Amino acid sequence: MPGRLLCFNPSCRTPFSITDVLYTCPKCGGLLEAAYEFRGAAPETVRCLWRERRLSDAPLDRSGVWRYREMLPFLDDYSRVVTLREGNTPLLDAPAAARYAGLDGLAFKHQGYNPSGSFKDNGMTAGVAQALRLGMEIVACVSTGNTSASMAAYAAAGGLKAVIFIPRGNIAYGKLAQALEYGALTFQVEANFDQILRLVRDLAEKEGIYLLNSVNPFRIEGQKSIVIEMLEQRNWKPPDWIVLPGGNLGNTSAFGKALRELQAVGLIARLPRLAVVQAEGASPFYDLLQRGGQGEIRPVEHPETLATAIKIGAPVSWPKALYEVQATSGLVEKVTEQEIADAKAQIGRCGIGCEPASAATLAGIKKMAAAGAMRRDADVVAVLTGHLLKDPDYIYRYHTGRLEGPDGRRLKSTFGNQPVVVPNDAAKIAALLKEKT
Ligand code: F0G
Repeated sequence: MPGRLLCFNPSCRTPFSITDVLYTCPKCGGLLEAAYEFRGAAPETVRCLWRERRLSDAPLDRSGVWRYREMLPFLDDYSRVVTLREGNTPLLDAPAAARYAGLDGLAFKHQGYNPSGSFKDNGMTAGVAQALRLGMEIVACVSTGNTSASMAAYAAAGGLKAVIFIPRGNIAYGKLAQALEYGALTFQVEANFDQILRLVRDLAEKEGIYLLNSVNPFRIEGQKSIVIEMLEQRNWKPPDWIVLPGGNLGNTSAFGKALRELQAVGLIARLPRLAVVQAEGASPFYDLLQRGGQGEIRPVEHPETLATAIKIGAPVSWPKALYEVQATSGLVEKVTEQEIADAKAQIGRCGIGCEPASAATLAGIKKMAAAGAMRRDADVVAVLTGHLLKDPDYIYRYHTGRLEGPDGRRLKSTFGNQPVVVPNDAAKIAALLKEKT
């Protein structure tokens, strides 16, 4: 059997079979991870194999997740993998965003280019593969919108029933629309993400439904490919920093695990530092690091941010994320609503664009650079987690000066770009053109 599940809690480390349906350790309640004995092909051989697969037409090789299957070898049979050709996302230089943040250079790894428009697809293809392998028929998740959109897509493609739970009124319309279109049974619950997650974890256990939140260790396996692909795009030269937004902290866990495993098999020589950025109104992980990472996380009872993707007060994967941030001498920053909104507009001005949660990265980099925590000449990659069109309502409000923060106060439209209403009159339009260009 390839690999096993292992309790992440250092004082437990109980192993379980890779086919056990478990999300947490039955002994101590700790998080679980997939663990492997990587059998050592030489790094150069593996790099060549992965390069060659880019020329293949086989669906598995064209996937930006399964192309790297040697690093996530939990399946013994790939015949039922559902791939929508996830991953394969670009690494984009963004000099204007670098200038805005006070850096010499900056690249964005844009996960919004995924089939359902977010990084969740990298993890979902792996989670759904495990669901199919276990013979599950119904998959479920709680979501701030992207996980549910992604799960709905992969479940539909794989012939599974999808049930999603979302906090009513608190997810962006683009994401809700996707779930409906992909045919998921959609429950809008009158509670926040953290409350619903507790409810659904319970329900999953009792009803034999397979849970595909990031507490599922196979989701994490898939998301490792984001970092693997990025390093391959950089010809295996690690950056100084990888910056990402933090919500439930699954992605932070995945990135750290990927980096440690890549180093262990000799594919990279050193670890980049992870920098996690949270929205000020939903920043319990930032608070934990301010306390030196001591003790337990203290949940934020009523998390608030317009970046609804990361509106999470009790991140489930915090023990893993804490370990990974510390293992890479990383940092955790928090940013305001205004900082997120302005950074987002700047990413748009690069011709790139992203959803609000993703823009927390650039806002955080600006803050860390200003504080001297990130050197001006540092080699930095920021991961944009979701597509611009996930949340068009936010964009329209920002550019027209109507975006209100969670406290009801209007945000400044610092880089606003108002549409101009004009009469059907060529001369007047010509005059306006002269004035405005
Ligand atoms: N960025 C986006 C666009 C997200 O959708 C999420 C999480 C994150 C960042 C944070 O990632 O949870 O791994 O720390 N969205 C989840 C969801 C919670 O339900 O779609 P994380």
